[in-house]
Amino acid sequence: MGRLILVSNRLPVTIQDDTNGQKVNRSSGGLVAGLDPLHLNGDGIWIGYPGTAPDDNANKLLADMRLEPVAIPDSEYAGYYEGFSNGAIWPLFHYLLEHCNFYPAAFEDYKRVNERFAEKILEHAKDDDTIWIHDYQLMLVPSMLREKLPGARIGFFLHIPFPSSEVFRVMPQREELLRGLLGADLIGVHTFEYADNLARSFRRVLGHESRQGVVNLSGRKVRIEAHPLGIDVESQRNAAFSDDAEQILTRYKRNIGDAQVILGVDRLDYTKGLPNKLEAFKELLDREPRWREGAVLIQVAVPSREAIGSYRDQKSEIERLVGEINGLYGRAGHTPIQYIYGSVSPAELGALYRLADVALVSPIRDGLNLVAKEYVSIRDDGAGVLVLSEFAGAATELGEALRINPWDVRGTADQIERALDMGFGERNERMAPMHKRVVENDVHLWVGRFIRSLGTPKNEISATPPMLASSTLAESLASAFAKAENPLIMLDYDGTLREFTVRHDEAKPTEEILDIVSSLSSLRDTSVYINTGRDRNTIGDWFEGVDVSLIAEHGSWTKEKGQPSWKRAGDEPDLSWQAEAMPILEDYKSRTPGVQIEKKSSGLVWHYREAEADIGEFQALDLTTHLENTLAGAPVEILTGSKIVEIRQYGIDKGRAYSHVSSTSGPYDFVLAIGDDRTDEDLFAAVGEDGYTVHVGPGGSIAASSLHSPGSVRRFLALLVKARS
Ligand code: UDP
Ligand code: G6P
Repeated sequence: MGRLILVSNRLPVTIQDDTNGQKVNRSSGGLVAGLDPLHLNGDGIWIGYPGTAPDDNANKLLADMRLEPVAIPDSEYAGYYEGFSNGAIWPLFHYLLEHCNFYPAAFEDYKRVNERFAEKILEHAKDDDTIWIHDYQLMLVPSMLREKLPGARIGFFLHIPFPSSEVFRVMPQREELLRGLLGADLIGVHTFEYADNLARSFRRVLGHESRQGVVNLSGRKVRIEAHPLGIDVESQRNAAFSDDAEQILTRYKRNIGDAQVILGVDRLDYTKGLPNKLEAFKELLDREPRWREGAVLIQVAVPSREAIGSYRDQKSEIERLVGEINGLYGRAGHTPIQYIYGSVSPAELGALYRLADVALVSPIRDGLNLVAKEYVSIRDDGAGVLVLSEFAGAATELGEALRINPWDVRGTADQIERALDMGFGERNERMAPMHKRVVENDVHLWVGRFIRSLGTPKNEISATPPMLASSTLAESLASAFAKAENPLIMLDYDGTLREFTVRHDEAKPTEEILDIVSSLSSLRDTSVYINTGRDRNTIGDWFEGVDVSLIAEHGSWTKEKGQPSWKRAGDEPDLSWQAEAMPILEDYKSRTPGVQIEKKSSGLVWHYREAEADIGEFQALDLTTHLENTLAGAPVEILTGSKIVEIRQYGIDKGRAYSHVSSTSGPYDFVLAIGDDRTDEDLFAAVGEDGYTVHVGPGGSIAASSLHSPGSVRRFLALLVKARS
């Protein structure tokens, strides 16, 4: 079992210059508190940027703490940090396009610094280590590592939102960023919505389909999971109920007197909605004179990223608003907004959480928001009210908070007033369940869940099956096949027995195919099934004169050898969704020259092999997203295959068809399954260890071996016929 290597932009320490050389201080903060025990109790290392270049003494201290600094020249750091991380990814992922600057040179720095992190990791990591990379500053690192450490477990956690694919597509380096993430085995985000957005972007931008959060790459799986970050409840509460906090609380209470306290604690960032919050507070004071002296807003604004112009603009805007409101409503001995520009100690923050009658958390977009959870963790007295933006990731877990849309100034003012007027009973009713949830799902549980999930066998790399020559594979199976009493052979059609054709209705079987299938099928006691996604009429016509069993439409229909008619699997399917789907397919067809629509008894297929490649791909991805939205809830699955988008009845697949055959006509003492695309993976999974599975073409599959092409499959089958004749 290898070690755990943590990687984040910042190391969990700050290096301070001192008269006797540098000092190293541990920094506080939610993530550090969560990861620290994991780091301290293990024997792994933490890799990150130390902020200041360490001197010899600091280097020694860092080494003792198993912290590995990454050296980054200032010239590169600016492009990486201010330029691309915080000037492009940060605003775009928070849906704030007006703050985005996509400078190509900044991306080059970002890439170069990501390489520096990867190089540092590779200096230390071994193939059996677990590597956990954090946040948007390091999105390229997972793939940079994967090439060199194919066996390592690599986790990535994104602490900010992942935006809708419509917004993400704006990113000029969208492919690079997504490919970077795909080096990970597990990608964690805070909410299901972000997970969904990411899965859609993988599909839209790279064409990678995912099912239930699993992206199937060639030979490897990448999982996307929602794990909302928790807080370090114990240290929050220790700080808030410390002697220091007690003194600070008394001082604040004395200064404020009887007014109710509304608290805001935010990094000074344009995502935090500070101007909106101040406007809403002003609206409240404008219309309700009783709150002009009856309420105080204490706003802590922690300085952040001040080298970036939009952050400096935000600061001026906030100062202007604070000045305006205090100018309008300040009286001798009473200031409506107490503005603290700077960071506060954990004890002071805890005292403020205890003091606040109302916590006002109003980001216009926030990955999670720890402040909301911290406030809730402290307020088990039932006297506090949380007012929370619906655009904070934490809103999904804190449903009992008073919800606001921070863009709606009046609505926000209404909710602040409702909070101020709320009686103890309702305050307690709302706070108690949130408190319980936050305390139970703390940061240690979050760490444990992520690490456990990263370590589960589901992440095992499924190797790309070895590609064998037809003769080699035939030799290895010949004797078992010859000896078998009742062998079963299940073959896919398109891409397996027959090469693809430009028009899907032109892929009629050749004489060679008909000969091989009929020779196989007439071998003694041998059951042969063509198991295809094609509709039953086409495949039925094409194999009319051949005495072979047929399964059509992924298992919806079966025609047993020698039988005249088709039998449906299960009941008549609900096809009401087709009325909605068909106009969409037609619409995309009319805009994409070369497309054909195929109707099956239980599904619809949009074929674009004849379309111009780029346009076809683009339209197919767009169509898929459109169908997913329109058909959400319909009993169907949407598959993207080899130049097709298929809407298929839910609960039917080639694997189930195999299991049905096996349980009704089996057991078989020799099973061979051959197929080339995603739908055949269901078949391979169902056959499993019971038989031989063969994938056609290069690339990944769960099959045991692969053959090069339909031509190789035909040669292989001809050899098998000989072996049993
Ligand atoms: N915080 C801090 N110093 C302060 C005020 C707050 O370190 O002076 C902490 C706060 O306790 C919280 C974190 O900063 O843990 C802010 O996290 P949040 O998720 O709310 O926002 P972010 O800054 O990550 O966007
Ligand atoms: C957010 C990001 C973190 C970042 C923090 C402070 O929480 O998700 O990755 O560390 O803000 O920002 P800074 O730029 O000061 O590291």
